[in-house]
Order: sequence, then C-alpha cells, then structure tokens
Amino acid sequence: PHYHNIITESHGKVGLITLNRPKALNALSSDLFHEVNDALVKYDDDSNIGAIVITGSERAFAAGADIKEMSDQTFAQVYKSDFLGHWGKINDIKKPTIAAVNGFALGGGCELAMCCDIIYAGEKALFGQPEIKLGVIPGAGGTQRLVRAIGKSKAMEIVLSGRNFSAQEAERWGLVSKILPSDKVLDEAIKLGQDIANLSQPAIQAAKESINAAFELSLKEGCHFERRLFQSLFSLNDQKEGMSAFVEKREPKWTND
Ligand code: HXC
Repeated sequence: PHYHNIITESHGKVGLITLNRPKALNALSSDLFHEVNDALVKYDDDSNIGAIVITGSERAFAAGADIKEMSDQTFAQVYKSDFLGHWGKINDIKKPTIAAVNGFALGGGCELAMCCDIIYAGEKALFGQPEIKLGVIPGAGGTQRLVRAIGKSKAMEIVLSGRNFSAQEAERWGLVSKILPSDKVLDEAIKLGQDIANLSQPAIQAAKESINAAFELSLKEGCHFERRLFQSLFSLNDQKEGMSAFVEKREPKWTND
C-alpha cells in the first residue's frame, strides 16, 4: 500500500514500520496513526512475519499527538468522533511489537512506545508525558500504562510535572528493557524481532497473551489462565518437536502448528 506518513519494509521475518513526518518530529496526526494501524494489521495477518518493529528517526520517535490538529477541536467534535479511540488497535496485535526509540518520545509518542511489548532505547532518547503543560492529560493510556510500568510515585511525578525523563531513568525504572548506542537501536531491535520470529509462533503468541493477561486478572486467575494455555500447547506439533529436539540433542525445526 502507498503510505504518506510512514515507511514499511520487511527485514526477513520482521515487519518494520518507520514513522516518517520529519518536519513535525513525527507528530502523530490522525492520518499517520491510521496508516500505522493499517500496517500493523497487515503485518499481523502476514504469515511470513513473526515480529513487528516500530521506529522513528534519530531526532524523534514521535513528539506526541499533532497539537496543530488538536488545538481548535471542540468537546463535541472529539467526543462524537471518539478522538483517540482508534489507538486500541495496537493492543489487539497478536505478534510481538518492539519500539526502537531514539530522540523524543513525548506524549502520544511515549504512549505509542508503551503500547509496544518491548522498548529498546538509544542512550539519548527522551521520554515524557508533557500534556499537563498543554492544559490536558495523557489520552492514549499514558496514565494507566506508566503507573503499571514504574509505580505510583514516579508516574505521578512525571505526569503531574510534565518533566521529561532520560533513557537511563526509563531503563532503571523498568519501562525500557535495554539502552543501546543510538546507531545500534534499530539493528538490535530487528535482531531481537528476528530471534523471536524464529521460535514457534503459536508458543510466542501464547506467551504474549499470557503476560498481557497479568494486567487484567488476579494472580490466581492469571496463573490458571497461564496453566491452561501451557497445557493447550501440548496439542501442537511444535511442542513435540521442541522437546524431542532437546532429547535428541539437535536444533528444533518449528512448523508453527
Ligand atoms: C505538532 C509538532 C509537535 C507536535 C513538534 N512539532 N512537536 N507539531 N504536534 N506534538 C513541530 C513543531 O511545531 C515544529 O514545526 C517542528 O515540529 C520542529 O519542532 P521544534 O519545536 O521547532 O523543535 P525543538 O525546538 O527541537 O523542540 C522539540 C520539542 C518540541 C521539545 C519536541 O517540539 C515540543 O515540545 N513538542 C511538543 C511536545 C508535546 O507537547 N507533546 C505532547 C503532545 S500532546 P514548525 O512548522 O513550527 O517549525 C499529546 C496528547 C496525547 O501527545 C494524546 C494521545 C495521542
């Protein structure tokens, strides 16, 4: 498909989505976000793809929702169109998603990164939820995902002050899984995606589904859900293959069924 605000290209089994509105520091206009949704769904439906990486530029992952697009909107308009309601799409993607973040990841940019399953950050990446300084609050899950990732006191400090935080803070707090030299972030994210894509895809899908269930269920229900999913994997050829390969001291050949 022909996109105007993003570039898509696959690297082996990894689908790469590059946000590409350089003049606006990749501000997430509605058009851009609809294209991201479209690309995500296409990769999720593509059986040759096993993981998805989202990245921006060296200067900005994304500097937030498009403030120029939002500034004149009325309550009636944003309410009737359920503005930002379309953000849910990324949370329904079954395949693993990795954010490769350099530069600014602010507002909706930070929220988009937090919607991904894993965040790799360049050493100069800068995160933040500056919405309070615009007279609003995060609107795409920022208050909810930040508090789950880094706890109440830090989430409150960040959202109420609107101050940015560094890649080093983000990594220390557990929001980011790894910090890398800026020019290595994307390569390493693709490499991680490739490693994941080379494993049994139904097992990967179950693992992601089970971890995400932890955000919705009690510990007892979550462990029950996990155990049932675990048991269900014994219906797959990949379970037989994985375990017999171990016993026979050879590499497994996954067939994804
Ligand atoms: C629209 C934006 C933008 C944004 C930057 N630009 N961020 N346009 N929406 N969020 C545009 C600028 O207007 C400018 O265009 C160009 O990008 C370059 O930006 P500069 O400000 O000149 O660059 P710099 O001085 O380096 O400052 C970078 C910056 C600053 C610190 C990131 O741009 C900034 O504070 N941006 C806004 C960050 C923010 O508040 N984000 C939260 C948005 S609200 P022109 O044409 O003027 O040169 C939000 C709500 C979440 O995200 C709801 C869920 C989606």
